[in-house]
Parts: sequence; C-alpha cells; structure tokens
Amino acid sequence: MKKLKQEGKTEHPLLKLIDQKKIPAHVAIIMDGNGRWAKSRGLERIEGHRAGIEGVKAAVEAAQETGVRYLTLYAFSVENWKRPESEVKELFNLLDHYLEKEKNRIEEEQIRFRTIGRLTDLPQKTRKNLEEVQERTINHKGLTLTFALSYGGRAEICDAISKIVDKAKMGEFNSEVTEKTVQKYLYAPDLPDPDLLIRTSGEYRISNFLLWQIAYTEIIILDVLWPDFRQEHFYEALLDYQRRERRYGGVSE
Ligand code: IPE
Ligand code: IPE
Ligand code: MG
Repeated sequence: MKKLKQEGKTEHPLLKLIDQKKIPAHVAIIMDGNGRWAKSRGLERIEGHRAGIEGVKAAVEAAQETGVRYLTLYAFSVENWKRPESEVKELFNLLDHYLEKEKNRIEEEQIRFRTIGRLTDLPQKTRKNLEEVQERTINHKGLTLTFALSYGGRAEICDAISKIVDKAKMGEFNSEVTEKTVQKYLYAPDLPDPDLLIRTSGEYRISNFLLWQIAYTEIIILDVLWPDFRQEHFYEALLDYQRRERRYGGVSE
C-alpha cells in the first residue's frame, strides 16, 4: 500500500480485504481479448491492442500496490507469428511506444524489466530497445516485470534440452537430468514459479504459456476482455487466490 500513500490516493475497498500475509510472489497473466474488444466496437484489431496498454498499466500498478514481487505478461506467443504481417508489425510498434513512454516510470519506480522468449525473432529495433531497458534496469529493486515475447512453453523446454545436449557433447555434462537441471536452462531460471495465473477473455486454455512453471500454479479465468482489465480485477483475482488451499499433492492439515 506504500505507493498509494505516497501518491495520496484513496484505497480501493477491495484492497482492504486482501491478506498481506498471503500475497502471491509471482503473478502471470495471459492478456487475451484485444481483438474481440475492438470488433465489438466496430474497430480494427490493432485498436484493441492499443487499448490493451491500459490493461498493462493497471496490472503493473495493482502488482505494486499489493506487494507482488514478480509480474509476467504474455504479450506475444510463438504461434502469434501466424497473424497478418500488418498486425504483427503494429504490435511491435506499440511495444516500442510503450517502452519509450514508460521509461521514466520504470526508472522512478525501480521496476526491473525482463523478457522471456525467442528474442532473436523480433524486429531489430524492438530487440535493441528491449535489451537496452533490460540492461539499464538490471539492478532495480522494485517489481520484476517480465514480458513474454515470441514465447512458447514448448519452445522454452526444447531450447533448454538443446542447451543440455550441447553441454553433454562438450563433455561438460554427464550427470542425471533432474528438474533442477532443466530449470537451470530455462529463459529466466531465477524467477520463482507463478503462484497465480490469470487469463482474461473467458477462454479456458493455457495457449502454450509457461508449461514447465505452472505445474502447481493456481489458475483464474476472468470474463473481462484485456483492454477493460483494471486494478479491481487484479484485486478480485488475489482474493479468490487467497481463498484456495494449495496442497501440492499432499493432504489438508
Ligand atoms: C491478445 O488479444 C493479444 C495478443 C495475443 C497479442 P488477441 O489479439 O488474441 O484478442 P482476441 O483473442 O482475438 O480477442
Ligand atoms: C495467447 O493468446 C497469447 C497471448 C496472450 C500473447 P492467443 O489469442 O494467441 O491464444 P489462442 O489462439 O486463443 O489460444
Ligand atoms: Mg486471443
């Protein structure tokens, strides 16, 4: 709640209900429904993506307000390359624009910006922007904000296996492959597994997101379309999460 106090904003009533002792460390979000949001208004799909930036800002603010340490946003999947070239191009333009506009906020609020995914697939300019902001914020101590870009859960696991095989060929790896080994070769091995995964737009599927990491993640599907996502949706998801019992295959106490 520190941030609200600093800004002199009034606290949302739902915020008071959140148990500070049960805040998820890592929240991941599948930001879905931009196209449908636009279509329902008779707009081009790209207008939905543009409006979706408000959802991103709301999620970042809500994570900061509630004390979530890691926020991971699914922004572009490996499968999304199938979309029309014009839409893909506009999506990366929007990302460049977002990074430029949020530069100061990222600095002031000590946000650590990271990416996961096959960044080499991205347009040169966007890649350069992303690498620059990652380097600049590497020592920031605030929220760790990770964008999944040209990301696929299966691709990530394949990339990890390839690296392990390369090591083995060089004679640098000759022990048993454990979960720890695989974890070590993921895109961001130091990130804890998500405690909570939110998907918007009412679709009940994972769409190739963080397949390895969500083994025991709590999943919440919201009906809201991503451009309409606001802080209260995040608070509601947290409250729902806090009512659940995580057993990890064990039994209740
Ligand atoms: C999510 O919205 C954004 C991306 C996948 C880049 P969509 O563009 O998938 O919107 P819908 O699902 O078609 O409504
Ligand atoms: C998942 O949404 C990918 C992102 C949010 C970036 P999609 O819209 O691509 O997923 P499907 O096609 O509905 O499964
Ligand atoms: Mg979609």
